[in-house]
Amino acid sequence: MKSGAALVLGLETSCDETAVALLDGAGGARASRVSSQEEAHRLFGGVVPEIAARAHLENLPPLLDAALADAGASLLDVTAVAATAGPGLVGALLVGLSEGKGLALGLQVPFVPVNHIEGHALSPFLDGGGGPSARVPETFTALVVSGGHTHVFRFGKDGIARLARTRDDAAGEAFDKVAKMAGLGYPGGPAVDRLARRGRTARPFPVPHFKDGSFDFSFSGLKTAARDRLREMGRVPAPGASGAVPLREEDAPQGLCDLMADVEEAIVAQLLHRVSRLHEVGRFEVLTVSGGVAANTLVRERVPAWGRVRGVDVRLAPRALTGDNGVMIAFAGLRRLRSGRTGEGLGAVARSRWPLESLG
Ligand code: KG4
Ligand code: ZN
Repeated sequence: MKSGAALVLGLETSCDETAVALLDGAGGARASRVSSQEEAHRLFGGVVPEIAARAHLENLPPLLDAALADAGASLLDVTAVAATAGPGLVGALLVGLSEGKGLALGLQVPFVPVNHIEGHALSPFLDGGGGPSARVPETFTALVVSGGHTHVFRFGKDGIARLARTRDDAAGEAFDKVAKMAGLGYPGGPAVDRLARRGRTARPFPVPHFKDGSFDFSFSGLKTAARDRLREMGRVPAPGASGAVPLREEDAPQGLCDLMADVEEAIVAQLLHRVSRLHEVGRFEVLTVSGGVAANTLVRERVPAWGRVRGVDVRLAPRALTGDNGVMIAFAGLRRLRSGRTGEGLGAVARSRWPLESLG
C-alpha cells in the first residue's frame, strides 16, 4: 500500500466478540473481521468471562492476520493502534489492550485506549460499506443501546455529558432475558425481533416513570411482567432451570409471537419516551443510535420516523456495525489521535467501569 497513508488498527475484546479492523485516514474501513463466541457461551445462556478471555487469546492472532490480508497491508503499514480499554470484562479487555500496547510499542506508533461506548456512539458516522466516514458534528446526542449499556450522552464543545442511563437492565439485556425465559436461546434480541415480525401488539406494557422526574431507563419491570404473561400461556421454566424448555422459532405459537411484539414495542416506546423528554428540555439536531439493539427492526423504523416529525437528523449505525466491531474502535481512536486527546496512552489500564463522561 501507499507509504505514509494513515492506517489505524482497531482491536475490540471487551465482551464476547473478538474484532480487528483497519481504518484509513478518511475513516473508511479497509478491513473488518469479527469472530463471535456465541456458540461457546450459548450453552450457559450468557457470557462466561473466563471462556471469553480464553477465546479472545485464541482468536485474536489469526483475526489480525486475516484483517491485514484483507487490507493488502502488513503490520509495518500501521500508523497507530487503538484498543478498547473499557468498560467490559477485565480479563477479556486485557487481551486486546495488551496486544495493542505491544504492537504499538514494537512498531513505535501511537497507542490510543478507547472507551467502548464512545466507539458505539460514533459508529453512525461510519459507512457500512467501507466508504469514507461522515463529518462528525461538534455537537450531537447519542443513544447507545446494547446488551450491556443503555445511555444517552450529549457530545459537545465542552466534553461529554450523560443525560440518561438505565437504572437496572440494559435494553438488550431485557430482550435477552425475555428470550431466555421463553426458551429462545442466546442472544435473544434477534430471535425476539424475528418472532415480533410474525406477531401483533395486543396487550401493551406500561412505560415506567421515576417519581424523581429523572429521564433514566428501567427495564426490569418489563422482564417481570413478561414472565407473568409467559406463565399465563403455560411457558414456565422447567424445575431448576432459569429458562423455559428450548423452543424452535418455527414452532412458536401465535400468542408467543404477539407477546414478543408487545415486549419489543414496550422497549422501543420507552426509548422514544425518554428521547422525547430530553429533546423537550434541550433540543438536539443530530441523534445517533448505536449498539446491538440498533439492529432491531422496530428501532430502525420508529426512531427515524420520530426524528422526521421533529426535524431531528437521526443517524442509525450501519446494520453491519451495530454489534461490537473493530471499525468503531479504530474510528474513535483516529478522532482522539487527531485532536490530541489520547488520554493515558500506553499507561491505560483495563477498566470494568469507565464512565464516558469522565473523558475529555
Ligand atoms: O453491542 P452489542 O453487540 O454488545 C454489547 O456491547 O452489549 O449488543 C448485543 C445486544 C444483545 O443484547 C442482543 O440481544 C441485542 O444487542 N440485539 C438485538 C438485535 N440484535 C442484537 N436486540 C433487538 N433486536 C435485534 N435485532
Ligand atoms: Zn458493545
